[in-house]
Amino acid sequence: MRFIVWLLTKVQSILCTFAPANKPTLEPFLDTRMKVIPTTESRISTIDFNNLGFGAGLSDHVFICEYKNGQWGERVIQPYSSLKQGLGLHALHYGQAVFEGQKAYRQADGGIAIFRPERNWERLNKSGERMLIPAVPKEIFMEGLSELIRLDAEWVPRGENTALYLRPFLFSSSEFVAARPSEEYTFAIVTSPVGELYTKPVKVKIEQHFTRAAQGGVGYAKAAGNYGGAFLATRRAVEEGFNQVLWTDHAEHAYLEEAGTMNVAFVVNGTLVTPALSDRILEGITRESILILAKEWGIPVEERRISVDEIVEAAKNGSLQEAFGMGTAAVVSPIDGLGYQGEVIPVPAPADGVAMRVKNALADLRYGRTADPKGWMYRL
Ligand code: COI
Repeated sequence: MRFIVWLLTKVQSILCTFAPANKPTLEPFLDTRMKVIPTTESRISTIDFNNLGFGAGLSDHVFICEYKNGQWGERVIQPYSSLKQGLGLHALHYGQAVFEGQKAYRQADGGIAIFRPERNWERLNKSGERMLIPAVPKEIFMEGLSELIRLDAEWVPRGENTALYLRPFLFSSSEFVAARPSEEYTFAIVTSPVGELYTKPVKVKIEQHFTRAAQGGVGYAKAAGNYGGAFLATRRAVEEGFNQVLWTDHAEHAYLEEAGTMNVAFVVNGTLVTPALSDRILEGITRESILILAKEWGIPVEERRISVDEIVEAAKNGSLQEAFGMGTAAVVSPIDGLGYQGEVIPVPAPADGVAMRVKNALADLRYGRTADPKGWMYRL
């Protein structure tokens, strides 16, 4: 039996080698090292699937794999439970922690598929590299996601604009308070059934006091502290009546960078403009996908530096046709107002503009309602 499993694994890995690069293999990896401990008490009946917010209820199981003595160990799926580690947990003190955000979608035919999971794996390791965290092998990432979702398949919602949000994360798990890198790390995945993050267009405040990221810093990484560090500025913006902040650069607060936890784009005189990637900007997978689609549709696309003055001026003279945020959680979120120097400048949020066109195209693809010529959907 062991020999047969070994042989199948080998055949599969040879087949994977010949699979086209952009076409994820559809078959599950065979894993002889995965330990699965199913729950005896599902919490699924506590979730109101007709009223899903964002990220509150966590599904029954978690995936965990620990890195010790220079190698990744046993892969375990177990019931969701609190961390076993003590208060010396390194990540709590020094924030050596990165995460990903991705989604699994209920398909029109009842199946389940994940959107571009390999890009999330690549980005997780890119973030980890910046935070001096060892890379997670692709098989561990993909198997962990696939097996976890299979076990919690009933948690993948069926409603309009819903998904199972997937949160792979990597954190330093030695227990000591010396200010040096951890020796042990944990890769874990939790999941949460979610609805839309924003159900209406958002108003954003052009932030000219706080800074999200600086050149040479960790802004491009999905480092936990980037999000924790944004909470105060966001709270202030919310108190002033906005939904989010529109971050500007650290040096002059003169250039636009990101919108809250999303990348940002503008449509000016028919051209889709978005800040060019840099040390300070997250390489969004939704952003990347939208730019690919827009270019295919013949929409002119510019990735460049965008000044606050340019966008404020365009909003005032009518050449700003749209503004929107793009991200896994928010998907595509139209912006209908810019807070700047005490005033709110209205921005059009047309129902037939670029934002809604890409939002609908991505939804059709993600829910399996259209063909997938790029092989972006990884079907379980
Ligand atoms: C995502 O879009 O996945 C994010 O990272 C936002 C999250 C912090 C809610």
